[in-house]
Amino acid sequence: MLRALRWLALLWALAPQARAAEVPRGREVIEVDHVPGKLGAVIFRHADHGRRKRPDGTLIRCRDCHHTLAGDEPTSAAQLQAMRCTLCHVGLGEAPRVIGGKAARPVAALKPDGAIDHRSILFHDYCRGCHQAQRGGERLLAACKVCHEKGIGSGVLHGRYDAERQPGTALSWLRCAAGQRWTGKRCDGAAAAVSWAEAPGHCPEGYRLPAPAELHGLLGCAEGGRGCRPCAQSPACAPLLGADAGSYWTSAEQGEKAQVVRLADGAASLQPKGGAAAVRCLQEVRP
Ligand code: HEC
Ligand code: HEC
Ligand code: HEC
Ligand code: HEC
Repeated sequence: MLRALRWLALLWALAPQARAAEVPRGREVIEVDHVPGKLGAVIFRHADHGRRKRPDGTLIRCRDCHHTLAGDEPTSAAQLQAMRCTLCHVGLGEAPRVIGGKAARPVAALKPDGAIDHRSILFHDYCRGCHQAQRGGERLLAACKVCHEKGIGSGVLHGRYDAERQPGTALSWLRCAAGQRWTGKRCDGAAAAVSWAEAPGHCPEGYRLPAPAELHGLLGCAEGGRGCRPCAQSPACAPLLGADAGSYWTSAEQGEKAQVVRLADGAASLQPKGGAAAVRCLQEVRP
């Protein structure tokens, strides 16, 4: 019943066909936030676009962007429901969806080493491409600041999107445990649990396992793990790794055993190398 009413309301909204189709309430302004890079979300306002002219003098229509619409504008509630780009253009690094024999580009691709391929960002190409095509666009509308309000600072375009420097140190940590993926806000998926011998193979090129002292430094405690706070309560750890409480392999070994440090409380213990623990990787960067 409620469903039917909602459909009726939508149909009603579209009913006066003489009037131009409108962007539904709540969708006028959209945070485009599909790529977990360091620039953050881009604000898209339909209102900046609807009344604007294309280079040939005609108005920009819905279909100029919602390119799979049959007509210039949506004419049914069903069409209006199917306008989200990500219905077809899947997330970062996922395999493209094939629709009607044609592959829809993912929102961005990853390079083999796990960094974002900056040449592959669908929304950037698509937004900036049209802006460049406008009269005087290259100068006025295609400048990075038009869309990336904070501007493109140094450090934004280089390095991994999913690594962050620990302030006051030369250490750059991957945000997520091996096996997980950084979405820009959190780590998705399950952390891999592997043997000590396998662990370094789960780090990207140039990254390594931490020493126990490096994990303890993150937790703000003395070497050996005395006086550690949980990661979630440590000023250095929380912003980087959140509330992680997992147990991680370190590079320290003794015979058949290697040290594992627990981020819940900093406890360090020697574990058989053939056992299973999670993997965190880090890199030293130039200060
Ligand atoms: C007309 C709008 C527009 C302009 C102009 C624009 N971009 Fe983008 N850009 C976007 C959008 C939209 C995204 C995708 C954001 C998302 O989905 O998270 C994006 C994403 C990116 C990303 C990847 C996201 C990240 O955080 O690393 C980079 C890098 C980037 N743009 C660089 C640039 C540079 C450099 C310029 C100037 C030469 C520029 N952009 C100009 C719209 C624009
Ligand atoms: C200049 C490009 C552009 C134009 C013109 C445009 N849109 Fe959009 N629209 C977008 C983008 C970009 C999004 C966000 C897509 C995303 O993040 O998945 C969006 C999102 C939407 C959504 C939300 C989809 C959802 O379910 O989240 C609706 C509905 C919509 N537009 C309707 C319209 C209608 C109706 C028109 C014509 C009156 C129109 N748009 C014109 C670019 C445009
Ligand atoms: C119903 C599925 C579907 C929806 C919804 C959709 N797309 Fe697409 N898109 C495709 C397919 C399929 C292709 C490939 C078309 C081709 O190869 O001819 C494509 C191609 C593109 C391209 C060209 C990509 C390239 O390879 O250079 C851009 C840009 C694009 N879409 C942007 C958008 C945006 C922005 C939206 C939302 C406003 C959107 N698409 C909504 C299916 C979709
Ligand atoms: C079909 C072409 C087209 C596409 C696609 C497009 N834009 Fe635009 N955009 C325009 C035009 C034309 C203007 C209006 C310029 C003017 O008249 O001030 C504009 C204006 C803007 C403005 C306001 C600029 C200002 O200084 O007033 C922003 C911000 C913007 N667009 C962001 C985006 C983002 C983000 C996307 C992608 C999600 C996008 N645009 C996609 C054509 C387009």
